[in-house]
Amino acid sequence: MKINGKNYRTIWIDDDNQQIVKIIDQRYLPYELVIEELKTANDFVIAIQDMHVRGAGLIGATAGYAMYIAVLEALKSSDFDQSLKQFSQKISDSRPTAVNLSWAVNLQLDIINSCSNSEEKIKAVLSGAEKIANEDADWCQRIGKHGVSIIKAISEQKKGQVVNILTHCNAGWLAFVDYGSATAPIYQAYNDGIPVHVWVDETRPRNQGARLTAWELKEHGVPHTIIADNTGGHLMQHNMVDIVITGTDRTTRTGDVANKIGTYLKALAAKDNGVPFYVALPSSTFDWNITDGINQIPIEQRDSHEVKYMEGQMDGKISEILLTPEKSPAANYAFDVTPNRLITGLITERGICKANEKAILDLYPEKSS
Ligand code: MRU
Repeated sequence: MKINGKNYRTIWIDDDNQQIVKIIDQRYLPYELVIEELKTANDFVIAIQDMHVRGAGLIGATAGYAMYIAVLEALKSSDFDQSLKQFSQKISDSRPTAVNLSWAVNLQLDIINSCSNSEEKIKAVLSGAEKIANEDADWCQRIGKHGVSIIKAISEQKKGQVVNILTHCNAGWLAFVDYGSATAPIYQAYNDGIPVHVWVDETRPRNQGARLTAWELKEHGVPHTIIADNTGGHLMQHNMVDIVITGTDRTTRTGDVANKIGTYLKALAAKDNGVPFYVALPSSTFDWNITDGINQIPIEQRDSHEVKYMEGQMDGKISEILLTPEKSPAANYAFDVTPNRLITGLITERGICKANEKAILDLYPEKSS
């Protein structure tokens, strides 16, 4: 996607030094565009844990590159297998909910294990990382091409009036390598000349909606309005939302969806008001091994500091303020699960399907057994 007219991805290998991976450090957005260089395997763990990079697709792609740098480091250690095993565990555990992380690590481990010498391992794991990143961008672009048909149909029903779309958190291009999942159909609709407007949930506590989704949409020129998280229900009661589209961090083979905390409440409000509720995801976000989202998806709990303090810009500097009584405890559940019964459909790179096991497996028959 473009920033100030220049094409960017969220992660890439340095042109001049193949042992450096560059990322957009999202902690500084929307105030500053900061590019960070990741040089050691541990840099990647910090970048994921402290959310320099975030979003399911992007942390998967970051893990892919992390495994490449980890191989370079493990080859210099006394025990390659042990070093790589320890790192794989550490990076997989760095954020527990998004399945893309362990998906990418396992893909890379299979590649590494199939190579017979060091040179082969380095080459193969680097091209594995590039493949994960390229595929992520490609899948998101396809999600856009499939998902736009839903927005187009609503636009036709409304005789060309503006289609109001509500989204939660940031499942935009910053959450992936490019295009985004939930935003891909929106960008496609906008590019196709369909009039759209996006309600952007601020998404407390880290405000990914207010900071990142709003910034992305503004850069692309898409009309949008930031709303406090609790506003969606009211808007739906007054016919001001035509469709909800969110992303997901892990979706079961039965179509239960884990996404940023607060998504479930939006789905309940959508159901009550007859508003279609779609979830956009690439196949890397399906967890094919589980069937019960509420009981089987691990929900990350983050530091209470993120709830008690709010970060913003003051006098040109990023700073934070305390919002709560200093000594009050706070809980920070980062994700919740929306059961499949509340979901109208899933938008994937292979097409759109209902959120149930049969429909999902009709699109992905190779996962049937
Ligand atoms: O905690 P984050 O910012 O990594 O959470 C991920 C998200 O942005 C959302 O849950 C998103 O909708 C799914 S990621 C494509």
